[in-house]
Amino acid sequence: MPEALAWALGDAAATGAFGEALGRAVDPPACVLLRGGLGAGKTTLAQGVGRALGHGSLTSPTFALLMEHPGAVPVLHVDLWRLDAHELPGVGVEEALEGWPGVSLVEWGDRFPHVLPADHLDVSLADDGPGRRATVAARGPRSAAALARLAAARGA
Ligand SMILES: Nc1ncnc2c1ncn2[C@@H]1O[C@H](COP(=O)(O)OP(=O)(O)OP(=O)(O)O)[C@@H](O)[C@H]1O
Ligand SMILES: [Mg+2]
Repeated sequence: MPEALAWALGDAAATGAFGEALGRAVDPPACVLLRGGLGAGKTTLAQGVGRALGHGSLTSPTFALLMEHPGAVPVLHVDLWRLDAHELPGVGVEEALEGWPGVSLVEWGDRFPHVLPADHLDVSLADDGPGRRATVAARGPRSAAALARLAAARGA
């Protein structure tokens, strides 16, 4: 399995569908880091993951910082964009991520990489013409297995 795989996502619907495929590929507990600049499509992808796991509408946690969605596969949706480093110890993100039994989705997690579980999927979204390019790398064996399932489902 190569270190990272990439997919072209022509429009927002493609980002959502890719998120759904990712949601089917992960085997909870699992953590997904979502990188990419402002408006890259991180929340759109997270919503797709949520749909695949039975969560109809994950709203953006940009202002809430952290949103827990209970269910058969509980989803923790985190957005660290607005968080200052000195606030980090007080908000419980690390504690929430550690031992989360379902799937955690962490927008802007690359700002504070030490809060992420060691084994996580590292997803980057970048502009690609009018669309986006998603690059997915596995950080650890569980994520490597998920990436292999994603590649099998989506072609790569
Ligand atoms: N593959 C794509 N091609 C074109 N537009 C897309 C694509 N994926 C998502 N978008 C659009 O990009 C915009 C921003 O999406 P989204 O809110 O998911 O980004 P974000 O990375 O979460 O932004 P933020 O950094 O503000 O949290 C939305 O209008 C969305 O529909
Ligand atoms: Mg967002």
